[in-house]
Amino acid sequence: MGQIVTLDQNMVNMIAAGEVIERPASVVKELMENSIDAGATKITVSIEDGGRKLISVADNGCGMDAEDLARAFEPHATSKIKTSSDLRGISTLGFRGEALASIGSVAQIRAVSRAKNCPGANRIEIDCGNKGLVSPCSADYGTTVQVRDLFYKLPARRKFLKTTNTEMTHIIEHFTRIALANSNLDMVLCHNGRELYRLSARQGICERIAELLSSEISEDLVETESDEKGLHIFALLGRPSISRTSGKFQYVFLNGRFIRDKFISHAIKEAYRGHLEPNRFPVVFLFIQMSCEDIDVNVHPTKIEVRFYNANLVHSQILGCLREKLLGTNLETHAKLPTTIQHQKNSSLRSVLVGDQKITDAMAEFFRKHRPVQTQRQLGFRTAHHPAECDMTYKNPTQYDKKFLQIHDSFIVAEDDDGFVIIDQHALHERIIYEDLCRRIGKGKLESQKLLIPESFHLTDAQADALKTNAELIEKLGIELTPFGPKTCAIQAFPGILTDVAPLDFVQDLIDLITDKDAALDAETLLDEVLNMAACKAAIKAGQKLTMSEMEQLLADKETAECTSRCPHGRPTTIKFSLSQLEKQFKRT
Ligand SMILES: Nc1ncnc2c1ncn2[C@@H]1O[C@H](COP(=O)(O)OP(=O)(O)OP(=O)(O)O)[C@@H](O)[C@H]1O
Ligand SMILES: [Mg+2]
Repeated sequence: MGQIVTLDQNMVNMIAAGEVIERPASVVKELMENSIDAGATKITVSIEDGGRKLISVADNGCGMDAEDLARAFEPHATSKIKTSSDLRGISTLGFRGEALASIGSVAQIRAVSRAKNCPGANRIEIDCGNKGLVSPCSADYGTTVQVRDLFYKLPARRKFLKTTNTEMTHIIEHFTRIALANSNLDMVLCHNGRELYRLSARQGICERIAELLSSEISEDLVETESDEKGLHIFALLGRPSISRTSGKFQYVFLNGRFIRDKFISHAIKEAYRGHLEPNRFPVVFLFIQMSCEDIDVNVHPTKIEVRFYNANLVHSQILGCLREKLLGTNLETHAKLPTTIQHQKNSSLRSVLVGDQKITDAMAEFFRKHRPVQTQRQLGFRTAHHPAECDMTYKNPTQYDKKFLQIHDSFIVAEDDDGFVIIDQHALHERIIYEDLCRRIGKGKLESQKLLIPESFHLTDAQADALKTNAELIEKLGIELTPFGPKTCAIQAFPGILTDVAPLDFVQDLIDLITDKDAALDAETLLDEVLNMAACKAAIKAGQKLTMSEMEQLLADKETAECTSRCPHGRPTTIKFSLSQLEKQFKRT
């Protein structure tokens, strides 16, 4: 006798539920999405025991009449698509007609609904796939779905649920995504009778971000918008100072749907290139609107992934929009001062405070010592060679007007219009040289200078191969290498701009870089890494005393360079202190 049987519909639903309903948060997401598709303007989510005991979602949307209510929990029952052609151009969040059937197969449900034009409401109860009859009841317009005892007949699934706190964290995350994508709706989230969020349709998106995430984030966002080539982009870009160690704070919405997409993540990463250290992730809220015809949302069970018919266009539009804004914005890091002196005991703030204490001393020093340039020269600043002098024509600093000093031979404290800045001399100089190198190399190659005495060095076969493969790069850099006996090479010429860099040291590091990474990096990224390295080696070092004119030059170059808030590796070059912050700290306000 054959072994194969066809599973009954309830089993099919339970299996399908495994894909869609992973945990209570998935139920919250599906029910809230239904409310949005139903045109609700207010959604109230009530949870008990992290969603184990109860998940209730109530809305004031279009509701369902008795017939629809009976059908809504059937598998493949949907009002959102009718024919296969509707699959191309889905504008609703749901379309598969499987969410309610899946939820109904793994929990106890009570749904009450009243359609807009109906005189009364109706209700239905379902117990793990066993559907009761629809019966009339009294209720307001809209729909309320209550889900009790999720997975109670599936002990294996229930066992995998985590603590109440963990499940609530997931629920809050889904609530947050939906609330950010629909800031025009009133939304409430309660847990065990306690109101966690009450969001109003009247508040702006930034206020909503402050409430759902933190005001630290909402206060450090830069807004940008573009509308080109069929793509409307609205983005709130976190300043580098609030970057994170993971991409968790990158909220990308496509036509109101939260999505994760590797092309978009890559575009965001590229847009922030040079503004962030490589292991940091920017905070970004990205809202994209485009024709539903240009995307396929039917590619993932929870619809978190989509397919773009023209992914390159999406990538380039997002990259262009974000990059342009970031390059045109002053992204200087603002100092974070403690709010009260008692906080000094708080360990999480300790590192900041140690810095602040020094800064406060330095400030006092700055204001006490602040004198005209001549007087400062008499204080004993020693002349040091400016490594990138060869290219830098002197420009008068405007913003800092000659009010600055060097501290610990590493930082420059400079007054500006509404406070003062502390500049990391190495990081800033590195950025300036890097930009200069990029400009020069963009025009062709770096100008070489013959060495008076060629410097020879030993080469392995692998290194010789790497040099051969990267001959074009070496030439672009203005480095001339010639064979000099067996397994030996000589540096004949070196870029003139890198006057203070030891040629042998640089070439050996360059060879290490191309030997290690030759296979892994594309030409553009490799060139960028080499320029980073060159800038780092050529820049003024921490611990190097600067003359007044060198500092003046550096500050003047800061004014004209393109993007001076971060060094090429993404570390901040400048930390800004505003007068208002200082006044608050000194209890003047
Ligand atoms: N809150 C609601 N208000 C009004 N109608 C609703 C509501 N929730 C569900 N419905 C109706 O029930 C149908 C089935 O809902 P269900 O979530 O199972 O499928 P869907 O939303 O169409 O697709 P998906 O499975 O992708 O979510 C919907 O198409 C809609 O017509
Ligand atoms: Mg749905």
